[in-house]
Amino acid sequence: MSTPVPSFESLDKIYDPTAVPKQEKRYKKLIAEFEKVYQRKPEFVVRSPGRVNLIGEHIDYCGFGVLPMAIERDVIIVGSTIDEDTKVRLANINDKKYPAREFDYEGKDKVVTIDATKLEWSNYFKCGYKGMLEKFRLDKPKGLFLMVDGTVPAGGGLSSSAAFVCASALAVVTANKLSISKTELTEIAIVAERNVGVNSGGMDQSASVLSEKDFALHVEFVPKLHTAPVPLPVTSPKLAFVIANTLVTADKFVTAPRNYNLRVVETHMAALFLAKVLNLPPVDTLKEVYDLYYQDSSLNEVERFSDLLAKAEQHYPKDNTEGNGFTLEEVSKMLDIPVKELQARYMTRFPVETDYFRLLQRTKHVLSEASRVIEFRKTCENSKDDSTLKALGNLMNASQESCDKMFMCSCPEINNVCEIARKHGSFGSRLSGAGWGGSTVHLTTEDNVPKLIEVLKNEFYRKTYPNITEEELDDAIIATKPCSGAAIYTGF
Ligand code: GLA
Repeated sequence: MSTPVPSFESLDKIYDPTAVPKQEKRYKKLIAEFEKVYQRKPEFVVRSPGRVNLIGEHIDYCGFGVLPMAIERDVIIVGSTIDEDTKVRLANINDKKYPAREFDYEGKDKVVTIDATKLEWSNYFKCGYKGMLEKFRLDKPKGLFLMVDGTVPAGGGLSSSAAFVCASALAVVTANKLSISKTELTEIAIVAERNVGVNSGGMDQSASVLSEKDFALHVEFVPKLHTAPVPLPVTSPKLAFVIANTLVTADKFVTAPRNYNLRVVETHMAALFLAKVLNLPPVDTLKEVYDLYYQDSSLNEVERFSDLLAKAEQHYPKDNTEGNGFTLEEVSKMLDIPVKELQARYMTRFPVETDYFRLLQRTKHVLSEASRVIEFRKTCENSKDDSTLKALGNLMNASQESCDKMFMCSCPEINNVCEIARKHGSFGSRLSGAGWGGSTVHLTTEDNVPKLIEVLKNEFYRKTYPNITEEELDDAIIATKPCSGAAIYTGF
């Protein structure tokens, strides 16, 4: 069993020292609101953060490793329990946007009903609640009084949903005095979040729970979930990451059928196709193809990726749609699987809408991106001089190019922000998270952060959103340090 979820008495174990005074105020305010609304004292406080993905986009669900880090923005839940009933009372400090909700425990088998057809904030809490109570199968879980405060922008690509699901699951565990390891919490949260109807991978929950303060995190999923803290290179001047939210809302839930869920399906189909033409048994993911095909190979990791990329190029038939990909009928012929079976296998549990499946383009992105993650980690670990910044930046820029052209998950605003940043001291700029809007991440140096932020405000935000307020601007651009993952806070 891996390490338990940590309990911290002091906020400086969680946040960068510069952020502690602000956070202290925020915790106090949330506790005061809890006491006002419920007229009782809190018994516990838990938090789980959002994340920024430094590199490795849309490859977690293909089985390949990714490299995110936890950020300061997070979800805090203050709570207390009652033995007399099993009701959950859920309130949010932002009650205009997220009105209070109540629901009851529906028994060991069902736990709670989640209506995945609706975009409803309490669904994310229910995911964490259901995941935990399905695991522990309590006869009578405690009734709960909960107050939530989230600072991860919703739909901003910084994983607000995973932060909320992980914090919720941790609140349920803490309230019922159960114990759980960090790895178990992560694994439960990964599966639980799929109850809202998005077939997401495991990067966000892993980063939210398993990150360590001051480190990025290399997350691998195969053969089992494994994480390693990655030190960020020490450069002079010091490196810094700036996150800029494009403010194009990219709610995975809303756009999933044409975007996220479709990409998951395309990569599964691509894996089946490569396995078939390489005479391997049928598999689910491109990582399985990679592992099986090169099990006895003398090529190193990165050479394997370029070799497999070349094989893919060589074996794909030319599509008849001017690069738009293959119709379902064509995919059916290529895979030798009837259309009906493809629909049942890939297009039923999670809704998918498309006319074409772009299998070669997706393969090119996934394999090249997986290779870049390995190079990024190596570059961080072997950093010797200031050329490191350039090397990391080049990998991030190549990732963005591939996300845009091959995986088609960028958008004009993301491309624009990245271009502006690169002209003003960013070594590497890319989208972070699912894309189609949401946030971008930029690698720069600490001394350049104020200038970069100013330029982004003038060249992007004020031009794109002429009515934007100073407050909205400050919220959209974040200079962040790697923070700790999920934790129980006992210092209140
Ligand atoms: C979302 C998903 C993650 C991952 C990213 C894209 O954030 O939740 O699992 O697939 O998109 O890299």
